[in-house]
Amino acid sequence: MNREDFPVLNQDIVYFDNGATTLKPKCVIEKMVDYYSNYTSNIHRGEYSLAIKTNKEYDGVRDIVKDFIGASNSDEIVFTKGSTEALNMIIFGFFKNILKEGDEVLINKGEHASNVLPWFVLQKELKIKVKNVILDDNLELTVDNIKKSITNKTKVIAVSHISNVVGDIRDVDNIGKLCQEKNIYLVVDASQAVSHIPINVVNSNISFMAFSGHKMMGPTGVGVLYGKYDLLCKMKPLEYGGGMNQFFEEDGSFELKNPPSKFEAGTPPIAEVIGLGEAIKYIENIGVENIHQYELSLKKYLIEQIENIDNVILYNKNSKSGIVIFNLDHVFSQDTAVYLNHYNICVRAGNHCTKMLKDDLKIKNTCRASMYLYNTKEDVDRLVKALKESKDIFKVIL
Ligand code: ALA
Repeated sequence: MNREDFPVLNQDIVYFDNGATTLKPKCVIEKMVDYYSNYTSNIHRGEYSLAIKTNKEYDGVRDIVKDFIGASNSDEIVFTKGSTEALNMIIFGFFKNILKEGDEVLINKGEHASNVLPWFVLQKELKIKVKNVILDDNLELTVDNIKKSITNKTKVIAVSHISNVVGDIRDVDNIGKLCQEKNIYLVVDASQAVSHIPINVVNSNISFMAFSGHKMMGPTGVGVLYGKYDLLCKMKPLEYGGGMNQFFEEDGSFELKNPPSKFEAGTPPIAEVIGLGEAIKYIENIGVENIHQYELSLKKYLIEQIENIDNVILYNKNSKSGIVIFNLDHVFSQDTAVYLNHYNICVRAGNHCTKMLKDDLKIKNTCRASMYLYNTKEDVDRLVKALKESKDIFKVIL
C-alpha cells in the first residue's frame, strides 16, 4: 500500500474519519472512469460487445464478493445502494413476513440507526418485542450477556460486527454457534467490519449480512446484502420493475426471477459495482488480517500517548478495532472537531447515529478518530500534539 495511491492525501490533511467513509485509491477511480470512458452500456440487456464486457465486469464482482466473505454461492450476493438499504430489505422483505406477535428480536444500545429503526417499525406493526442485550462495563457486547437475554421467543439476533462508536469486535463466530443451537436467525451489520477484520459468513452461520462499498475504499451508492440462498428465495423484494421478472401478462399474472436478480430491479449502480470489485482486490492484495493488525498497532500508539493528557477523556481504550472515541473535558465534541480542523485533522463528532448509547456512555456526543490502512504514526503524532495544545481551544476556534 502506498499513500500515493490515494489522491485525496495529496494535500496536508490527517484523515481520521474512516468510520464515516474511506478514501478511494486511484485504481478504483480509474476503473470507474474506464467504464464511463470506454464501455458504458447497460447490463443484462445488450448483445453488442460493450454490453457483453459490462456484463462480465458486473457479474464478475459477485464472484469477488462471494470469495471475499466466504459465501457458498455468488447467487447469495445482492447489490444494493448500501448497508441501510440492505438492512431494510432484510427486515421488511424477510422478517416482516415471518415474525409474529410476541416474537423477540435482540439488539443492543450500541447499534446504528439502520439496525434499530426498521426493527422498531416492525415492533409497532407486528407487536414483536425488540430487546436490548445489556453491554458490559466497557460498553461491549458479550456472548454471555446475549445468552442471558435469549428466551424461547427469541427469533432474531441482530448485531453490528464492529460497533461504530465503541469499536468492539463482536464474537460473531460464537454468536453464530448459539444461533445454530437455538434455531435463531443471525443478522450482521458488517459496515464497520468487512474491510477491517476477516469474515466468513458460512463459518459464522450468518443468516443475513449487510455492508457498504464506500466504507471499504469503494464508491458510494453501492452495498451488499448477503443472505443464505434458501432465505433469499423466501425473501420478498421491496422494489419491482425491469430485470427482476420472468414474465408479466395483462391479466396481472407475473413471475419473478430467482435471487439475486429478483432484488435488483431497474438499472443498478453499474460503475459503482465495478469500482467495488476493484476495491476488494486492493484490500485482498494487502490482506484483511494485516489491515486489522496495523490498525490495532496505531490505536495502541494513540492510546499510550493520550491516556495521560489531563483534559482528554477516553471512552473505549480496550476495544480491539481502530476506533477511538474521546472528548476534551468540558468541551462540546463538535467544538473539538472544529478545533482539530484548524490542524487539518478530520474526525467525526456527535452521536454517530447510535443514539441509544448515551445513558451507558454518560454523554450524548463524542469525537471519533477512526483509522485505516493509509494512516500513519505521523498522523497520530499530529492528533496527539493538537490534543496536548488544546487548553487554548477557545482562542483557536473563537
Ligand atoms: N455510519 C457512519 C458512521 O458511523 C456514517 O460514521
